[in-house]
Amino acid sequence: MFQLVAGALWAMLPAYVPNNAAVLAGGGRPIDGGRTWRGRRLLGDGKTWRGTAIGVLAGVALALLLDRVAGPTGAALGIELPGVPLAAAVGLALGAMLGDIAASFLKRRTGRERGASFPLLDQLDFVVGALALAALLSPAWFVETFSFARIAVVVVVTPLLHVGTNVLAYAAGLKAEPW
Ligand code: CTP
Ligand code: MG
Repeated sequence: MFQLVAGALWAMLPAYVPNNAAVLAGGGRPIDGGRTWRGRRLLGDGKTWRGTAIGVLAGVALALLLDRVAGPTGAALGIELPGVPLAAAVGLALGAMLGDIAASFLKRRTGRERGASFPLLDQLDFVVGALALAALLSPAWFVETFSFARIAVVVVVTPLLHVGTNVLAYAAGLKAEPW
C-alpha cells in the first residue's frame, strides 16, 4: 500500500508543482491579451505568460531532480520509485498547466468569473492534462509507470492534496480564494 501511494505521488509530483509555482510567480500579461469571446474573457487575468512559463520550468526541474534521486530514495525507503525521463517531465509539467488553462476556458464559457470555483474541474483539470500529455510525449514510460492502481490513487488523493495546499496558500495570503 505504501509502495503504491508513494510511487503514484512520486510520479505525479512534477505535475503538482507547476500550479503552485504559478500562484507564486503569476502576474503580468495575461495569455489571452484581454481578448473576449461572446462577451466573456477567453481565459481571464488568472492565466499569465509568466505564471505558465515559470510553472512549467519548475515542474521540469523537479522532475529531473526526482529522476536523479529515485534510486537512492527508493532504496532508503525500501520501495521502488519510478524515474522520470525528460519527455515525461515536459509532458507532466506542461500538461498540468494546459489542463488548468483549458479549465479556465471552460469556466469563462460557463459564465464563471476569474477565481470562481468549479468543483472537481478545479481539482482534476491538471491531472487529466498532465497524464494525457505525458502519455502522448512518452508513451512507453507512461504505460510502464501508470498502472491502473496508480492512476486510481492519483485521482483520489490529488483533490485532497489540491484542496489542502490551496487552503494553506489562502491562509498565507498567497491566493485570493481557498480553492
Ligand atoms: N497563475 C498564472 N498563470 C497560470 C496559472 C495561474 O499566472 N497559468 C496565477 C495567477 O496569478 C492566478 C493564480 O496563479 O490568479 C491562481 O491560479 P488559479 O486558481 O488557477 O487562477 P484563478 O485566478 O482562480 O482564475 P481561474 O478562475 O481562471 O481559475
Ligand atoms: Mg482559481
